[in-house]
Amino acid sequence: MVEATRLREEIDEIMPGVIADRRDFHEHPELAFQEVRTAGIVADRLRSLGIEDVRTGIAETGVTGLIRGQKLGPGRTVLLRADMDALPIHEENEVDYKSRNAGVMHACGHDAHTAMLLAAARLLNDRRDQFSGTVKLLFQPAEELPPGGAKPMIEAGVLEDPKVDAAFGLHIDQDSPVGQISVRPGPAMAAADRFHMVIHGKGGHGAKPHDTIDPIVIGAQIVTALQTLVARAVDPTEEAVVSVCVFKGGDAFNVIPDSAELGGTVRTFNARNRDFLERRIEELTTGIAKAMGAELEFSYTRGYPATVNDPEMTELVRQELGRIVGEEGVVHPSLMMGAEDFSYFLEAVPGAYWFVGSQNPERGLVWGHHHPRFDLDEAAMAYGIESLVNVALRYLNEEA
Ligand code: NI
Repeated sequence: MVEATRLREEIDEIMPGVIADRRDFHEHPELAFQEVRTAGIVADRLRSLGIEDVRTGIAETGVTGLIRGQKLGPGRTVLLRADMDALPIHEENEVDYKSRNAGVMHACGHDAHTAMLLAAARLLNDRRDQFSGTVKLLFQPAEELPPGGAKPMIEAGVLEDPKVDAAFGLHIDQDSPVGQISVRPGPAMAAADRFHMVIHGKGGHGAKPHDTIDPIVIGAQIVTALQTLVARAVDPTEEAVVSVCVFKGGDAFNVIPDSAELGGTVRTFNARNRDFLERRIEELTTGIAKAMGAELEFSYTRGYPATVNDPEMTELVRQELGRIVGEEGVVHPSLMMGAEDFSYFLEAVPGAYWFVGSQNPERGLVWGHHHPRFDLDEAAMAYGIESLVNVALRYLNEEA
């Protein structure tokens, strides 16, 4: 407990610097794969801390570094990840640290993620005598822009040299209050895929439909048929969503158009439902279009896979979170239909991803992620830092 108290005191001491880092990143947000300034600051900081083997330019702007423990023990490698990118949103907050890049904003909290991992790096580096093995720090680009920055970083070899045994990460959570942290074993966030189609019919006069192949009516049939997939063909004890969010066609009240366009999103939590819906959406839509005499251009694009936490790693995290915010502060959250490219790390190695509450209604910090007024209670970052440090230490010192 002495060490736990000391860590907390040290975090309190460095918090002004962490807040300054976060505000600096907030003032200078950069879009996906353009995080040049942010990555430069990260790399400089890691080098000045004495972090080993700092590598830059991975998948454009990704950065990694190593902290090697000095204790004898299992000698495993744990990866801690932060994402660095901002969003194409124009900030509407009036704060000292308001975005200086018009139309670009840290509206998801990745500024805080980067600042927290830099702080955790410093604290873990100061504790090299307290763990065996290696901490691999990873700062990734482009979480917000599928196919994202995680996948190309993995393809560039970040899980090797040294080989990563487990991966952990966190997200600021503006939907829950400061002092609350959420984590759940198994599927936590959805796979997010998308489809797009153009129905090519035959246009004509609205009063002479018999001379046309009406793409609007065909589109309407397709929309209705797609709604039967989750309702009638997916196991009702499992979660999935198919939403048609684009339906464009026609310009005049008395003209049947030549074509109509449909698009939408598909969210699932396991590979079986994901494969099934991809196949059935194409079969249904092409079948309906063909039966009604139209031609169909169809495309289906896979986004991030489901984020699936390893049960054992989740239990380790849950116990450490309990020590930080108390058992009552650790929440088992509902499934989230949003997606996250940390999922690629969790497909490759066991690990877990948790959500650090950052909402503070008393201070008006209630706007959600991706809102132009998004802002977070920076006190949340202290919990985030403590969780990263403790989870890494616990994992590295535990016998496999
Ligand atoms: Ni995010």
